[in-house]
Amino acid sequence: MLRTHTCGELRIKHVNEVVTLSGWVQGVRDKGSLVWIDLRDRYGITQITIETENASPEVIEMARSLGREFVISVTGKVVERYSKSDKLDTGDIEINPSGLILLNAAITPPFTIEDETDGGDELRMKYRYLDLRRNPVRKNLELRHRLAIETRNFLDKLNFLEVETPVLIKSTPEGARDFVVPSRMNQGEFYALPQSPQTFKQLLMVGGFDRYYQIVKCFRDEDLRADRQPEFTQIDCEMAFVEQEDILNTFEALVRHLFKSVKSVDIPTLSRMTYADAMKYYGNDKPDIRFEMKLTELNDLVKNKGFKVFDDAQLVVGICAKGAAEYTRKQLDELTDFVKRPQIGATGLVYARYNADGTIKSSVDKFYNEAELAKWAAAMNAQPGDLILILAGDENKTRKAMSELRLEMGNRLGLRDKNKFACHWVVDFPLLEWSEETARWHAMHHPFTSPKPEDIELLEVNPGAVRANAYDMVINGVEVGGGSIRIFNKELQAKMFGLLGFSKEEAQDQFGFLMNAFEFGAPPHGGIAFGFDRLCSLFGGAEVIRDFIAFPKNNSGRDMMIDSPSVIAQAQLNELGIGLKK
Ligand code: AMO
Repeated sequence: MLRTHTCGELRIKHVNEVVTLSGWVQGVRDKGSLVWIDLRDRYGITQITIETENASPEVIEMARSLGREFVISVTGKVVERYSKSDKLDTGDIEINPSGLILLNAAITPPFTIEDETDGGDELRMKYRYLDLRRNPVRKNLELRHRLAIETRNFLDKLNFLEVETPVLIKSTPEGARDFVVPSRMNQGEFYALPQSPQTFKQLLMVGGFDRYYQIVKCFRDEDLRADRQPEFTQIDCEMAFVEQEDILNTFEALVRHLFKSVKSVDIPTLSRMTYADAMKYYGNDKPDIRFEMKLTELNDLVKNKGFKVFDDAQLVVGICAKGAAEYTRKQLDELTDFVKRPQIGATGLVYARYNADGTIKSSVDKFYNEAELAKWAAAMNAQPGDLILILAGDENKTRKAMSELRLEMGNRLGLRDKNKFACHWVVDFPLLEWSEETARWHAMHHPFTSPKPEDIELLEVNPGAVRANAYDMVINGVEVGGGSIRIFNKELQAKMFGLLGFSKEEAQDQFGFLMNAFEFGAPPHGGIAFGFDRLCSLFGGAEVIRDFIAFPKNNSGRDMMIDSPSVIAQAQLNELGIGLKK
């Protein structure tokens, strides 16, 4: 070993021991009679102090030749520091080196390797191996490791088996596009990378494995956002002989265990909200319930008073921002600009200030007198000092826009503390959603999700009203996991494919392997998958999952470090039978 201790390990009790440390030079300071080196590794920083009066000329010369990020090995005595530092865990001691070996020189890094760095996102991704040396990134990956270990411990105790499923598979329609891999041996044919191991975990249930999990890479070719990567990791789970209640209880216990063991946070029993209520009160199927500010429908109160915007609207909906009546004109203009951004899509914002003196003044005073405004305030439980914000328009769009405004107000009013965790279930999702674009029904979760038994008779007459045995776990407004009880009967599965627009042949061709398996004694089963990267970022108090992935891709799906995707040689294409050139 090129070291006896790590750079984060030595304390006062080690004084007088001769030790060897290895690591990277964080910095060198030369004061003439004293030269200091800050030596860093994964575990911390230790100060190396060279007294030029006492040290050997070789050590002094070597110390003065060092630059940032040089890799060195230092042997010397641990001594108590004259002036101690409480900024470092090792701040009580320093090393007086008797030997100093250069293991490798380094060129100047393109950004400073410190907690606060001057490197921009793209630069840090290009040199990710340098970024990984920084404390914040390292800590994120340590957190990820801890969460993976605790997940495995917990599930292992409950008899779950971790089983690997293939990566070269065939496409399963789960909403996103597949990444495909050409087959050399079967030219013109392609594998797909799994969007999730969904069908395999169901087949493991048919295979009698009864409790499965896997911390597994999934691949989806979709537009990227802060909480989406083209390759991401799931904690994927499935259980046989269970009902929805069993899944909710088992995986709520997993998440509570993770919070307790990794963050020492006690999470109360998770509350449950139906999809219908989530949409009605929050405009969103993953509400952040760290704060109230529920949506209130105002149609009945505001129509037919001559204000065309409200009269023409399918939905008029408001929120009450507590204590925000004193928002300035400028702040209100900012909010108007916010809702008018194309991503939000509202045409304007109506507000009413419920002033501390009890008067109510709105931006639509021309149409509504104070008595009418008082009714709005009463409907929204507004108190003096509160600000009422109202949007109007097409039902779905307006709900969605209001949901965004609610989150924005939550941010502005400091109601979204990243150290506070509100976890809950959203249940009773619709089985199907209608797509105008394709003019057909799509599975809201995926085609293997079971309808609620009591709604099965609606499948033929009113498919949109059928609720599914499907659920999402939401933490602080982030969908961290989703799953369902599955169909395990061939006829029902075939019917489902029929509703989704598959012909009998197409269904058999694409999913025959699953439907056939259902004929060989498939047990009732269900499961869930957590977005592991999202879970890590939530635990780390961040919104961007990239920082919790060792080698992430940027928002265009590029790996900046290895520069991929990239073109491949014509010979390689020829071998695969793609774009053949003579
Ligand atoms: P679903 O598609 O809901 O379900 O995915 C499960 C969870 O995975 C996370 N997730 C992502 N994380 C990062 N980047 C992405 N591109 C991304 N896409 C999804 C989310 C999500 O809740 N097979 C089903 C699960 C089941 O039914 O058991 C499935 O994959 O946190």
